[in-house]
Amino acid sequence: DAQGVFDQINKQFYVSPEVLTELTKAFLDEIALGLSEYNHAMAMIPTFVTGVPDGTETGTFLALDLGGTNLRVCEVVLNGDKTFNLVQNQYKVSEALKHGEATALFDYLADSVDAFLTTHATTDYTSLQSDPSAHTSDAVHLGLTFSFPVEQTALNSGKILTWTKGFSAKHAIGNDVVKLLQDAFNRKHMHVKCVALVNDTVGALLSRAYTSGGCFLGAIFGTGTNGAYLEDVDKIRKFAGSAAAANGGAMVVNTEWGAFNNSKSHLPVTPFDNAVDRLSINPGYQIFEKFISGMYLGEISRTVLLSLVDATPKSLLFKGKATPSLNQHYGLDTRFLSEIEAAWIDTGATKGSVELPPLGKPSFESELSDAAKAKLTAVRKVILGPHGLGYKSEDEVSLRDAAIVRWVCALVARRAALLSGVAVATTLIQTGRAVLPGQEGSKALRERNEKIGVGVDGSLVENYPNFNTILRESLRLLVGEDVEQRVNIGLAKDGSGVGAALCALQALKQGL
Ligand code: BG6
Ligand code: GLC
Repeated sequence: DAQGVFDQINKQFYVSPEVLTELTKAFLDEIALGLSEYNHAMAMIPTFVTGVPDGTETGTFLALDLGGTNLRVCEVVLNGDKTFNLVQNQYKVSEALKHGEATALFDYLADSVDAFLTTHATTDYTSLQSDPSAHTSDAVHLGLTFSFPVEQTALNSGKILTWTKGFSAKHAIGNDVVKLLQDAFNRKHMHVKCVALVNDTVGALLSRAYTSGGCFLGAIFGTGTNGAYLEDVDKIRKFAGSAAAANGGAMVVNTEWGAFNNSKSHLPVTPFDNAVDRLSINPGYQIFEKFISGMYLGEISRTVLLSLVDATPKSLLFKGKATPSLNQHYGLDTRFLSEIEAAWIDTGATKGSVELPPLGKPSFESELSDAAKAKLTAVRKVILGPHGLGYKSEDEVSLRDAAIVRWVCALVARRAALLSGVAVATTLIQTGRAVLPGQEGSKALRERNEKIGVGVDGSLVENYPNFNTILRESLRLLVGEDVEQRVNIGLAKDGSGVGAALCALQALKQGL
């Protein structure tokens, strides 16, 4: 029966405390593996960033940011008092550029910087642009935020390991990304020098540290998901014997946790996840990311919704009628999930949840309270709206349909936020700030009273209502309330731009 189908889906998406705990253990194992050897899925990349800023840093830099929803160029002024000024412009990266030749993509990046210098930058760079005899030392310094896995060899160089998040430009993998960009600047005779390379997670970590005084983890929950944290160099065992390891101390490690549990041995995989993975351009890769990040949550929801539209012997949704957006691969944007949840939460006298009859109950609609009707009507408006599913009239979308859509989206997003908590908990445990429930050491930790800073960024954590609250729910379960309460998760707004600037500064100080 109908209710049986809904109950089954509910069960498939449920993540128990036991599963969360087992995932955390498996996550710790993969961290250890990635720190000890090269060439593991969770790459645990040493970034050559050896400390975090304290807010006193100063300077003016350009930053270029590729890999999120938008390509951005920014001019960042670090004021040295924990504040910064930032001017930015966004550019669109077409699908053709994502999948074409790398040189075309990097030419486009250079063109965007050129356009920015002419139209947006507050400093007058015109002499540098037009004077071919200007020396490289006069060049504008740029930090590149490149939000893909890169095996770094220094602050200003690193090889692209693989593409993620739907990019697949040819002849990029294996090449030095700074060189690819610098060559493009040089081809265009631009006096811009790329002096540093950062992942967006590292940017989030550095910028949060700059503005808030302390931070040990930078995490992105956006188109993709990933985290970077400050690790003891001694624990980066694959580094042993190298020059970089000689000084000991700490170094930021880019975990590339999007690739956690690619074997799917521990993740609560549903048939919908398998379908999304199989039809993606990188089946078997970035599996954790496929459960969590913005690029995939819309797609998982779409897959579940279609299964209900197509249910037999009787359709359970939209009277069996799909739309072009529902039929379109990646036709559902994660923005849709955020808008649905916001409409549900913000509408009506009762903020938050109201009781609904079971979705499969024949008398569902006649049993709705006024508050529930108001909320579902708001949800229906989003379904019919510009970022909606493409239905044209209220006749096509019943209030029960609206309730089903909200339920599916919330189920998918809630699982994502709970799993995100696993990633944060694991880095806390890895760095000795927490222990798993029942393990030794919790008393000593309870007596340590420090605040624990975490910087986050990305469209999901920024726009999906209560993402952070649900993430904290699993964090609490995994590390205990005493530690969870001390974790201060703050938005690293414009983190990539500021982080790239801070990294550029570190590179110049090192004489790179
Ligand atoms: C942005 C950063 O704020 O967040 C990007 O500038 C980052 O570098 C991005 O990749 C992640 O979010 P999204 O949702 O744009 O992928
Ligand atoms: C993907 C990338 C990673 C990036 C993350 C967030 O997982 O591989 O480098 O940090 O997306 O943008």
